[in-house]
Amino acid sequence: MLKEHFSVNSLGHLVIGNLDAVELAERFGTPLYVVDEQRIRERYRRYLRAFSSRWPEVRIHYALKANSNMAVVKILQSEGAGADVSSEIELRIALNVGILGEKIVFNGNYKTHRELELAILNDVLINVDSFQELETIDKIARRLGKRARIGFRINPDIRADTHPYIAVGLRESKFGFDVPSGQALAAYERAKEMPSVEVLGIHANVGSQILDASPFVEEAEKIMGIVSEVKEKFDIDIKFVDFGGGIGIPYKPGDKELPPEEVAEKMVNVVKRVVHEEGLEKPMLLLEPGRFIVGDSCVLLARVGYIKERPGMPDWVAVDAGMNALMRPALYGAYHHIELANKMNQRNELLVNVAGPLCESGDFLGKDRRLPKVEQGDLAVVFDVGAYGLAMACQHTAQPRPAMVLVNGEKAEIVRRRETYDDLTRLDRIPGWLK
Ligand code: LLP
Repeated sequence: MLKEHFSVNSLGHLVIGNLDAVELAERFGTPLYVVDEQRIRERYRRYLRAFSSRWPEVRIHYALKANSNMAVVKILQSEGAGADVSSEIELRIALNVGILGEKIVFNGNYKTHRELELAILNDVLINVDSFQELETIDKIARRLGKRARIGFRINPDIRADTHPYIAVGLRESKFGFDVPSGQALAAYERAKEMPSVEVLGIHANVGSQILDASPFVEEAEKIMGIVSEVKEKFDIDIKFVDFGGGIGIPYKPGDKELPPEEVAEKMVNVVKRVVHEEGLEKPMLLLEPGRFIVGDSCVLLARVGYIKERPGMPDWVAVDAGMNALMRPALYGAYHHIELANKMNQRNELLVNVAGPLCESGDFLGKDRRLPKVEQGDLAVVFDVGAYGLAMACQHTAQPRPAMVLVNGEKAEIVRRRETYDDLTRLDRIPGWLK
């Protein structure tokens, strides 16, 4: 069941990079996120190759929302990746680690004036989400004496088999311009008249954690259909076709992976066909993977504190990381595989629920799981937490967010330190009348 970048040593301990997880937990404390640099590089290269071996111009814009840690983003910058950002701070992180503005796309349905200004000044490609946003961008660009580089996010109206919260491509979802009513085309027509706006792209995103190629093929058909119409009706050549992210990863034993090669083959075939049939200029393909690149590169190590035996029911195993450290099980009912990192060779025979330390019943990492006989001091390991793990962690019950360590072969270094009392209280003030 272990993915190929992990192994088990002679002590029966989990090995990440070339390092023993039990030693990492002793050295850096728990709860601890551990990321494997080489795995991120492998996944990025695989995704890029899948598309670039099939189409002349391709750029991967790593979706920072999956994991915006600066070291992680720096790894991707060093690979030549661009970025997909959706907030001012993500944009600044991308710029600060050295990603050029022109290799960044800015997505989202609410971009503040300040965010738009920063994006326009840095030549970021803005995927516009509404008519009012378009007017705002035109005004800001005019004031700055710049031409804003834009694309339009269209609503692809595609049903993907994933959690409803992350099925963002449905017609009823808040994202993108509606196509059937003609709004998407009207947006291109309007932008064409605007002197401070340069219309370069089209964008859609069908959802996240998708393990079947068909929604992506449907997306390619819909987008390329609009690209042809925009050329035919308004003589606009779309230079950037941005297919968003969304390829999922296997979380549960038995889940099948969706190979990016299969998705690339099928999507690029659609692009080739339409470009050929309609005599279009070849656009650059942009892709915005997050989870596929970083999801399985990272584990969460948590110390077992207490075990509560319950006759006829799964025992409760309390560990020092809960929904504050990893929100996905509580928020989406997501499955993350759990083992004991110090007992990898023992049989999983005990039925348990794994809980965190918070004061909520939703505070669990896994239910009805099989683990070896658990004892106090054992080290639980939660797999596949590289995407939307630490990035969505919070400080509920004033729990400090965990530290994160980056591993590269024999090397390990803290890339985010654990929060402290000072970090958690730094922003609070007691007003004068209470002093
Ligand atoms: N591009 C856009 C415009 C997006 O909205 C997203 C994710 C991505 C790219 C990256 O998608 P990915 O390749 O990672 O699937 N918190 C949820 C996931 C939310 C995804 C939102 N958008 C989770 O923990 O599953």
